[in-house]
Amino acid sequence: MSDLNFSLSLPRKQRQPRENDPLPHTIAERTRRVYDAIAHVYPLSTYFFHRKAHAYTLKNSGIRNGDLVLEIAIGSGEMFRKLVEINQDGTTIGLDLAPNMAAYSQRRIRREWPEAAAHCGAVDVRNLPFADASFDAIVCCYLVELLSHDDIYKTLAEAQRVLRPGGRFSLILIRQDTPIFSFMYRMGAAMIRAFWGRLVEEEVPEMIGQSGMKIIDDHSLRQGYYPSRVLICEHAAEPAMAQADHSLTVAARK
Ligand SMILES: C[S@@+](CC[C@H](N)C(=O)[O-])C[C@H]1O[C@@H](n2cnc3c(N)ncnc32)[C@H](O)[C@@H]1O
Repeated sequence: MSDLNFSLSLPRKQRQPRENDPLPHTIAERTRRVYDAIAHVYPLSTYFFHRKAHAYTLKNSGIRNGDLVLEIAIGSGEMFRKLVEINQDGTTIGLDLAPNMAAYSQRRIRREWPEAAAHCGAVDVRNLPFADASFDAIVCCYLVELLSHDDIYKTLAEAQRVLRPGGRFSLILIRQDTPIFSFMYRMGAAMIRAFWGRLVEEEVPEMIGQSGMKIIDDHSLRQGYYPSRVLICEHAAEPAMAQADHSLTVAARK
């Protein structure tokens, strides 16, 4: 190594560390195991809790038939099937950390839409294996509760990176302004953190602003007692601030 090799650290963006965060680090391995184990029964959960928010998101996602669409954290593929249905002439890609979830979703799609260009894969979406500006639209439902704060920033920055300028990023969060629901959620989460994560809805809008996307629609709804918040965001065509957080190693060679 030459003496001219040195590490250049860009100034860290001011992030408010969250006090007493019950999920200071993403526990991906445990989350993968839990969701892998329940892939076959998970559609019920979507049916009872997520259906309404999915429908609102789909309507406002800006997706047009023929687009290149990405859904991250597809679970058992309920939203993914709707995306494929409206994008019959395009390509729809769905990713999930849990291989059983990805495989289950892929099988259903092959049965229902054998001709569709629809592909599911087991990928940890904190790093997206795609080139910059690849997608016309990205959808993400009920994932960020399972990620640490740093990983939420990272995942938002990745979504912004692979979304084309002007494209839409649609995000669904679990709302936290319903005291009884929030209390029950906290109880469940304390027992199975890897399944429930924790509530982060109130902090995410600011994180989105820092990622280089801007919120163009903010809608709250309930399905039974289950409260959701849908944020429709647009790529603001500016570099993601979160990326400035990474250290660069500059290797100057003679
Ligand atoms: C609460 S479920 C939501 C599933 C689906 N999006 C829905 O709306 O019903 C969360 C999903 O995120 C997946 N997941 C968690 N962490 C992930 C990660 N780092 N990368 C990709 N998927 C992840 C889990 O495997 C699980 O399927």
